[in-house]
Amino acid sequence: MKVVIKSSAEEIGNDIADSIQQLIGQKPTANLGVATGSSPLSVYRELARRHSEESLSFARAQAFMLDEYVGLSANHPERYFNVITRDFACHLDFADDAIHGPDGLAKDIEAEARKYDESLANAGGIDLQILGVGSNGHIAFNEPGSEWDSRTRTIALTEQTRHDNARFFDQEITAVPKLALTQGLGTIMEARQLVMIALGENKADAARELVEGRVTEQWPITILQQHPDVVVYLDDAAAAKLSDPDSYRNN
Ligand code: GLP
Repeated sequence: MKVVIKSSAEEIGNDIADSIQQLIGQKPTANLGVATGSSPLSVYRELARRHSEESLSFARAQAFMLDEYVGLSANHPERYFNVITRDFACHLDFADDAIHGPDGLAKDIEAEARKYDESLANAGGIDLQILGVGSNGHIAFNEPGSEWDSRTRTIALTEQTRHDNARFFDQEITAVPKLALTQGLGTIMEARQLVMIALGENKADAARELVEGRVTEQWPITILQQHPDVVVYLDDAAAAKLSDPDSYRNN
């Protein structure tokens, strides 16, 4: 696991955009794993810039989402499919049917979860997965206690997560869905390359557990220690609880 500390989200966005551009250069049909939330926004902005100013093209690539709220209406602005379209896909030249996510409005939600896992496998798996982390160490919506070999499934969101995500719902915790569909930890670990972004002091505990802690289901993020190709990007605030942050500054 490589750990990189940068002083701004823009520098992190630039580094990860480099990795994605390299991947697309080698494999134009790449499958990109995309995350919602504020952490990847600088990556998405930089990709949009490279697309409009430098002709970086995603015309043959596909994007797969990590998770989705269950039950938000099709046009709800916080439905993750709409978030990914707005923050990411609409600024790039993906084909119309190239953005995939589990459908939180499916009638048979468990069947939808299985179908999504199958669609990932049928597409040949994820080449590069972008990840954020919740303040409680969740990745995608794999809350503490999630099993290492879990697959795409429904999960009850913790009060902490609903509280954290209330900022996207006018600070109204009751408006945050209680249930989500999420790729499992086992699913995420199958991606060939992972990049994880943690920004801000709210992520400092999770970052410390990831970099210095032992692998434990209480901190789902710690499973990344066992992935063969993962880069962890932290800003100064997220790195503040590491015992020796300076040792990662020149990575
Ligand atoms: C949500 C998403 C996660 C994301 C996390 C952190 O819970 N399901 O995939 O990593 O939020 O979000 P942010 O980057 O906004 O802090």
